Amino acid sequence: MPLFIRNGQIVTASDVYQADICCQDETITGIGRNLTVPPGATVIDAGGKYVFPGFVDPHVHIHLPFMGTYAKDTYETASRAALVGGTTTLIEMVCPARSEEPLAAFELWKSKAEARSFCDFTFHMGATRYDSLAESQLKEIVAAGVSSFKVFLAYKGAFGVDDAELFQVMRLAKSLGVIVTAHCENADAIAMRQKEFIAAGKTGPQWHEPSRPESVEAMGVQHLTAFAAMHDTHCYIVHTSCEPAARLALEARARGGHVWVETLIQYLTLDKTHAELPDFQGSKFVMSPPMRDKRNQPFLWNNLANGNISTVATDHAPFDFKSQKEMGREDFTKIPNGIPSLEDRVNMLFTAGVNSGKLDLRRFVDCASTQAARLFGLYPRKGAIQTGSDADLVIFNPKYRGVISAKTQQMAVDYNPFEGMSIEGRAEAVTVRGQVVVSDGKFVGREKRGRFLKRDPNHF
Ligand code: URP
Ligand code: ZN
Ligand code: ZN
Repeated sequence: MPLFIRNGQIVTASDVYQADICCQDETITGIGRNLTVPPGATVIDAGGKYVFPGFVDPHVHIHLPFMGTYAKDTYETASRAALVGGTTTLIEMVCPARSEEPLAAFELWKSKAEARSFCDFTFHMGATRYDSLAESQLKEIVAAGVSSFKVFLAYKGAFGVDDAELFQVMRLAKSLGVIVTAHCENADAIAMRQKEFIAAGKTGPQWHEPSRPESVEAMGVQHLTAFAAMHDTHCYIVHTSCEPAARLALEARARGGHVWVETLIQYLTLDKTHAELPDFQGSKFVMSPPMRDKRNQPFLWNNLANGNISTVATDHAPFDFKSQKEMGREDFTKIPNGIPSLEDRVNMLFTAGVNSGKLDLRRFVDCASTQAARLFGLYPRKGAIQTGSDADLVIFNPKYRGVISAKTQQMAVDYNPFEGMSIEGRAEAVTVRGQVVVSDGKFVGREKRGRFLKRDPNHF
């Protein structure tokens, strides 16, 4: 059935204008003033609302075996949460244990998503070991439509690679035209600090941040960009939390490196005082890199606004407070690392960024949708409002006022890190390839139509 969106304020990464949008057969077929409504079309009146391209979250975890447990969401719950929050495309990290073969892991992660997701999805392939088998399987995975790798410099013994492996991943990525996304922290420095703190009886969640300080993240960025430069490989620093780490990434770019920076909505709006909350409440805010001192936030906002920081993601990794964060009550190093945020990224960014004057409206679309689509080979199918683009659209009401609460969320986890915070604006209607899946802010999708998005390498 055709879809017609009437008289919205269309906002893309480059333009703001008033127009109608017509969609047929899953794609946008017309954009203009006073278009004719096709017979039988579903009509949405977008007067007084913004129409954004569907938002893209370039860093989520859904199936995640990690620190002795599993992240809580399934594709059903996560994609519902994403859509209610205006995110229509997910890029999930495939994170195999070092003992697993990459191809089997890729098939496993794909099987968790296929026929279970309400929105489209793709993957960054975790390169968590390197040998001849891994190399040939990574090549197969790229040929199957995955044009980005993920490396972890942290989590030694779990997902982390050593320097010889990092060297080879960078070389392979360059030869295949693949971008390498990277978790940058110095694993050995963290392990030593953790040991010292636990031995000294510093066992609470407030010690998580001091155990992996800003310098540890900055060291990781320095290390990663040096290895990328050796092969001229494109790299993307995920979850950048602080000024020293971001500065080193930007300096590497200034030297000619192909380096992009992601930050998270958590780092822009929460800080380390949250992880210092009493009664183990701080564990709800334990993730890596940690919540930082608030003094980092002006730097992050300014560099997001001017485009030095390309994207805002979530690193969505939901663990229940009651049963899972509890695993680290006596020892913060055992608290499953991760924060749920998939549902709230767009509304929080609009509220804290656009409404507070820190972010231009077009740059908001750019950093929450278009840049991720461009960097990861999805543009202009995603991240754009153009004829021929997928009809993934967000009709956004800037006048909506509400309060975030775990009681009303879609995410399958027992808390929300933004609990009690006000949002100014929300996704009122959302479409996935021309079908309405959110109406009046509520999920109304029925079919799990989400598709695996194949991406070609060498799209830079
Ligand atoms: O603490 C985090 N970030 N958990 C998820 C895994 C990762 O490092 O991205
Ligand atoms: Zn990470
Ligand atoms: Zn992550």
